[in-house]
Amino acid sequence: MNTRKTFRMDGRTIPFEDGQSIIDAALAAGEYIPHLCHNPEFTPHGSCRVCTVDVDGRMVSACTQPAAEGQQVVNNSDPVNHYRRRLLQMLFVEGNHVCPGCEKSGACQLQAVAYYTGMLAPHFTHFFPRREVDASHPDTVIDFNRCILCELCVRASRDVDGKNVFSISGRGIQSRLIINSNTGRLGDSDYDRADKAASVCPVGAILPKHQGYEVPIGERLYDQRPISVVGDVAQAKQGDNGDG
Ligand code: SF4
Ligand code: FES
Repeated sequence: MNTRKTFRMDGRTIPFEDGQSIIDAALAAGEYIPHLCHNPEFTPHGSCRVCTVDVDGRMVSACTQPAAEGQQVVNNSDPVNHYRRRLLQMLFVEGNHVCPGCEKSGACQLQAVAYYTGMLAPHFTHFFPRREVDASHPDTVIDFNRCILCELCVRASRDVDGKNVFSISGRGIQSRLIINSNTGRLGDSDYDRADKAASVCPVGAILPKHQGYEVPIGERLYDQRPISVVGDVAQAKQGDNGDG
């Protein structure tokens, strides 16, 4: 007899283990829930809210909400995707995301999730903040204009690299990513391009130098298959195509 616990999502039965979040159970079952600040390798952060789902009539973050027996989850509906689009639109206008000229275009999760949810326009007025580019490190450039404050680099540097190179400073609209070095510049920190933090950025804010635009248009990560099939960068690297 199968005694695995399950919940229902968009008409499908999703099995889960005790302690598993809704998003991790869904992804393990091959069901995509859009997300940006979530990466199964790190503790959930719950900041972007793009993973919002309707659970028994309540909008909650699927990355922080534990799965529970018998839950009714709505992932792919007009109201849920409308809510996600508004969040994505806020992210787009809050920074300076110039997709056609960005090296990460075609492999950017913000762009790919915007496509997935059917976002066609920014809706809100652009803030056009003035932010710097830090090119002080020999191997890596940081473009703060593209940072969506997901804190994946913060978590990776702290929890995997054991370095604390990155932090978030300020609150609310004043929040910004900072580098922990005497000068505030990456080149003066103990960051190394082999660090885990170098490979977790879901957008084009942390980029390797000397290899921009290496992958031609048409062959980039999300050129032929959407993020709902390819998964995020972490999944794609593991060769997981999201089917199981
Ligand atoms: Fe997230 Fe990238 Fe910004 Fe770090 S630099 S907080 S990984 S968007
Ligand atoms: Fe769940 Fe960002 S992915 S809040």
